[in-house]
Amino acid sequence: APQQRQMTSLMRERLPAVIFNLFEDIGRLADDEGIQIYVVGGFVRDLLLGVSNLDIDLVIEGDGIRFATTLARFLKGRLRVHEKFGTANIRFGDQKIDVATARREFYQYPAALPQVEASDLRQDLYRRDFTVNALALCLNSDRFGELVDFFMGRKDLEQGLIRVLYNLSFVEDPTRILRAIRFEQRYRFSIEPQTLGFAREAIARHMIREVSYERMFDELILILSEENPAPALRRMTELGIWEYLLPGLEWTAWLEVEMAAIPPLLKSLAAQDLPSPKERWIVFFFALNRRLSADGVRFVVEHYPLKASMRELLLRIHQSGSSTSQELQAWLRGNCSLSNLESILQGWSWESLLALRAGYSVEETLRLAEAWQTIRQSKPLLNGNDLKAMGIPPGPKYAQILTRLREASLDGRLPDREAEKAFVQKLLAQEVPVWQE
Ligand code: CTP
Repeated sequence: APQQRQMTSLMRERLPAVIFNLFEDIGRLADDEGIQIYVVGGFVRDLLLGVSNLDIDLVIEGDGIRFATTLARFLKGRLRVHEKFGTANIRFGDQKIDVATARREFYQYPAALPQVEASDLRQDLYRRDFTVNALALCLNSDRFGELVDFFMGRKDLEQGLIRVLYNLSFVEDPTRILRAIRFEQRYRFSIEPQTLGFAREAIARHMIREVSYERMFDELILILSEENPAPALRRMTELGIWEYLLPGLEWTAWLEVEMAAIPPLLKSLAAQDLPSPKERWIVFFFALNRRLSADGVRFVVEHYPLKASMRELLLRIHQSGSSTSQELQAWLRGNCSLSNLESILQGWSWESLLALRAGYSVEETLRLAEAWQTIRQSKPLLNGNDLKAMGIPPGPKYAQILTRLREASLDGRLPDREAEKAFVQKLLAQEVPVWQE
């Protein structure tokens, strides 16, 4: 069919050659096993949109695990099987492939749609979130490139609409409310009016409370990991979602300015090879939490699955974020020493500092980043062994001497080992042991 040829040339054009060839191999393997195989979901959506996406989700009409085993052997990849769900995933190199079995049992709303073209695939796709995510692309040789579009997903993609497949979609899975917002903002689509109505209804019925904080948090993290989360956050405000996720958060014009300032700041940091956050969502999360009341922060700390270090930082931001922010500002204006800065920075992570700086001038924050890097990278030339060689008896004062050394070398007062040794001698010679504070 011409449509099939058209999709095949689109794939050849847009996909890396390795992926295209891999798809042909997968199709042939599936032919040999006598099963139908499809790539589905976000991969197909992004292929049609011309967005790069290399997370491959396969759905098999037949025994998914058996096929995954064959495919893993063929690719010499690593296989992990989840018997209970009939799914498996394969890793080879840095490529990941998820394999699922299309099964009828998942068909939960038999009355919601007439079963005209009933197939296992259709039912698998029908239980998904949105029409644009419910497209499938067949990989079998004779159907290679055939787009399976049961729910007019392609039309919605073209018109830029996020539409659910059935009325109760958000009630059944309220995390989809956040997903709808994420996709809407990422692709600059709109949530289709009726779908928006369903979302509002689910929110009004407090459905979000029915979901675990773990799951909601995962979706919030995905929103905060988008290139620029601010528009999605504004949309969440509009729909009244914060009272469930971050109670008491007030989305103000100033907060929006702060949030919108973070992506360009992170870009400048990366462009200048300055320290970047390990995970960018954390900066946004901290910046949001900064605006919460004590009760709000307590709620977050109690409900979300956070690492202890992160919980501590959230409380710290609440207690002393503003004063640290002011000290940093004073430091930047006053050209003080690095050792002075180091003591201000004590106990803060880079992500949390960036959150404290959100909305401040980029140029000053870049200066701070340079100083942070210098502090991080600097250490005295002398170490414990050198102190021992100087005849100083080992003990707790080593740490204190090394701290002093570090401060002095940070401030550029000790150019070489000899200068450091002289500094240590001077410390030791002083009547009052300077390290006892
Ligand atoms: N899905 C769903 N309901 C959810 C989560 C996921 O129906 N609550 C379905 C969607 O159809 C989605 C697929 O599972 O396409 C895979 O989910 P995921 O990998 O999270 O989404 P992607 O669409 O690949 O999105 P992203 O680009 O963010 O990875």
